[in-house]
Amino acid sequence: KKQYRIAVIPGDGIGKEVMPEGLRVLEVAAKKHGVSVQFDHFDFSSYDYYEKHGQMMPDDWKEKIGKHDAIYFGAVGWPAKIPDHVSLWGSLIKFRREFDQYVNLRPVRLMPGVPSPLANRKPGDIDFWVVRENTEGEYSSVGGRMFPDTDREFVTQQTVMTRIGVDRILKFAFELAQSRPKKHLTSATKSNGISITMPYWDERVEAMAKTFPGVKWDKYHIDILTANFVLHPDWFDVVVGSNLFGDILSDLGPACTGTIGIAPSGNINPERNFPSVFEPVHGSAPDIAGQGIANPIGMIWSGAMMFEHLGEKEAGKSIVDAIERTLAERTLRTKDLGGNADTTACGKAVAEMVD
Ligand code: NAD
Ligand code: IPM
Ligand code: MN
Repeated sequence: KKQYRIAVIPGDGIGKEVMPEGLRVLEVAAKKHGVSVQFDHFDFSSYDYYEKHGQMMPDDWKEKIGKHDAIYFGAVGWPAKIPDHVSLWGSLIKFRREFDQYVNLRPVRLMPGVPSPLANRKPGDIDFWVVRENTEGEYSSVGGRMFPDTDREFVTQQTVMTRIGVDRILKFAFELAQSRPKKHLTSATKSNGISITMPYWDERVEAMAKTFPGVKWDKYHIDILTANFVLHPDWFDVVVGSNLFGDILSDLGPACTGTIGIAPSGNINPERNFPSVFEPVHGSAPDIAGQGIANPIGMIWSGAMMFEHLGEKEAGKSIVDAIERTLAERTLRTKDLGGNADTTACGKAVAEMVD
């Protein structure tokens, strides 16, 4: 039987606090479902590493983690000590690009018993996937700063959309929509104002839609789409967006389900040429780091997505079920969800519920 090798990278801030809870739950689920896993721990992709070595990762980072079956990642960023664009382009964004993880898959689900900040919403009303383009778009290194520190100073950063890049994320999103009962896809656009790249995106959506006749689809400009996430979250099933739009929608969606602290994600290379990265949607949360109060569910749920990606569906499902049972009890929830459990108590509760 195969033994999976997982690279474990806690990163910064609350990444280091939620990772042990993620591992605790994965160990239990693995044991109960006869999954054999080996965890290899790495300290890079963190401010601590940067402070010692002057760079976020060793030169041979790809050799160190590129052969693993998956990467389990906490969060990175310590803006008081290092500018975010330096730490992020030196670590997470490198993973996404160099491992060609062009899909960022982020579920949004209102869990039983968890109060939504939106009035009168119950589980089932909010249950969709954000499919975010993860390797190009607005996150581009094309551009620069000219005439620095003069009156003529100017900066540009160009959005890059390639036909291959746009088509492959749309294909993934349409396939996901086709596999779901509602078979409904929504595309995020802004082709009224962003007059070259966004009309191109729309054009490719229309072309892709023709090859998925069973999928109903629509599109909204990103401004009204954010409004509709709040007013009509029940309208959505699969929502596909460019890198920046997908980023914004994947914090807004989970906020509508009570907290961003439960939201998971997979940075996926569907062809499996490289390992995929599984990480919570949230960041290192310097404002609460060190207090032991961070919600570990986003980290734990990301572990469930990782098991599912590896083909261990039962083990993955047992974790999601355990999360639902834990969140249903207010006393087992962390502070962001109105509870008083600390990070460890919440993680232990999930681990105990796994069957
Ligand atoms: P953040 O997600 O770290 O925090 C936003 C707010 O949500 C904060 O008030 C925080 O306390 C709260 N929060 C986040 N996760 C929580 C959890 N699990 N439980 C309870 N509360 C939680 O976003 P930010 O403040 O914009 O960024 C902080 C740092 O993290 C920056 O360096 C940023 O670049 C980085 N970041 C990294 C990632 C990543 O590694 N994938 C993602 C987002 C932000
Ligand atoms: C995320 C984060 C990252 C992103 C940042 C930290 C670069 O917000 O994973 O959503 O924008 O992709
Ligand atoms: Mn984000």
